[in-house]
Amino acid sequence: MGVEMISQWFLRFGVLFAIVGMCLGIYMAASHDHTLAPVHAHINLVGWVTMFLAGLYYTVRPDSDGKLARIHLGLAVIGLLILAPGLTGVMLGYLSWGEPLAGIGSVLTLGAMLLFAYIVFTAPRRVRA
Ligand code: HEM
Ligand code: HEM
Repeated sequence: MGVEMISQWFLRFGVLFAIVGMCLGIYMAASHDHTLAPVHAHINLVGWVTMFLAGLYYTVRPDSDGKLARIHLGLAVIGLLILAPGLTGVMLGYLSWGEPLAGIGSVLTLGAMLLFAYIVFTAPRRVRA
């Protein structure tokens, strides 16, 4: 098979972000420094939970795979890869670059979810077609 199914990519990124989030969680617990808790929370929730759920969705609805699903993946991954460092900057007090990155990352992350909402809402139509 040439092009991999989109579900596989979402599931892969989901477990990778779970590993990164858990490492940060263990570091916070071990160091007793919870400053980066919001970064940990969002790598786990926007990365692991949300991406793995999308992967499960595309597994049961392979008809939703396509160009839009690939844009969804790109927006979601790039969004979190900008949001997480941005949030880190904000939490550590580097507002000059932290806030713009967090802002851009949030908007991309929201964009990914809006696109996913469109894909989910229009899925029944694709199955009937
Ligand atoms: C190895 C696994 C994990 C470890 C060691 C860990 C550790 C921690 C620690 C030390 C905090 C800071 C608590 C505080 O300051 O109040 C925290 C917060 C948090 N963790 Fe984890 N965590 C792990 C996995 C996860 C996973 C898998 C999720 C989500 C799916 C998650 C979601 C959260 C959330 C949402 C918070 C923020 C809670 C708040 O600030 O109110 N964690 N975690
Ligand atoms: C565009 C995406 C998102 C943005 C910009 C965002 C932003 C934020 C901000 C600014 C906070 C307050 C952090 C603090 O002051 O401690 C927060 C807290 C939190 N968010 Fe999000 N969030 C997003 C998506 C999500 C999603 C998808 C989930 C769950 C699936 C989630 C779960 C939480 C939780 C559990 C907290 C409390 C944990 C904490 O304070 O560390 N967020 N979020």
